[in-house]
Amino acid sequence: MADSNSPIGVFDSGVGGISVLRELVRLMPGEDYIYFGDSIHAPYGTKKLEEVRELTIHNVELLLANGAKSIVVACNTATSAAVAILRKRYPDVPLVGIEPAIKPAVMNKPDSNIIVMATPMTLKQEKFQKLMAKYDDMGNIIPLPCPGLMEFIERGDLEGEDLRTYIINLFHDIDTDNIDSIVLGCTHYPFAKKMIKSIVGERIKIYDGGEGTAREMKRRLSQNGLLNDKKEKGNVIFINSKDTEDEINLCNKLLKLPF
Ligand code: DGL
Repeated sequence: MADSNSPIGVFDSGVGGISVLRELVRLMPGEDYIYFGDSIHAPYGTKKLEEVRELTIHNVELLLANGAKSIVVACNTATSAAVAILRKRYPDVPLVGIEPAIKPAVMNKPDSNIIVMATPMTLKQEKFQKLMAKYDDMGNIIPLPCPGLMEFIERGDLEGEDLRTYIINLFHDIDTDNIDSIVLGCTHYPFAKKMIKSIVGERIKIYDGGEGTAREMKRRLSQNGLLNDKKEKGNVIFINSKDTEDEINLCNKLLKLPF
């Protein structure tokens, strides 16, 4: 039976969710974590809805079988496809999903132009459509699907010329002088933030949902009496469906990168 000493389970379709994990570790350093990256099945964002749902349930089962006391769905795609199903299936497990951080972008500057970069699946789902409708009259929200972007991060390519070319092409038809902020609606993209900034410029504010997700998990753990407030630093265990040393090395490298 999981208790406050048990680890927090975190998963993503690959290594992207480590951008959420590092926020969790920063906020709750005394907790232990198990991170599962399903890199062998990545990307999720261009798959069929039913397949993403099945993979997501499998990931939660794996984390619970490894003793997780709570679950962070550190994947916008999996959250948009399956979080309602997960909540029904695991009513007693504190479970937090991630969604594009449109709210802080709108609040920071009302009536501004906001680009939301995400996978095709996230942008297509009803969950995102509802989120967009909620803030529609407070800002001009422009969805920007980015098929192929997460693959650079999966390869550990955060600074290469091909990534630069991909992002230049992505913004080719967008007048960035008229853009106020960009919301990174996929957990892989914060690892490309430096490259994105170098192309769109420093003026545009960039948001992601990692910090808000970590805060929500802390709140849920506290509500359920499951916070581990030990003073020593906790452990992070990485499991990846690719199961290679290179993959685990990439996970450790990404966790240590500056924000
Ligand atoms: N990291 C995932 C997300 O936040 C998606 C990448 C993918 O598997 O397509 O949406």
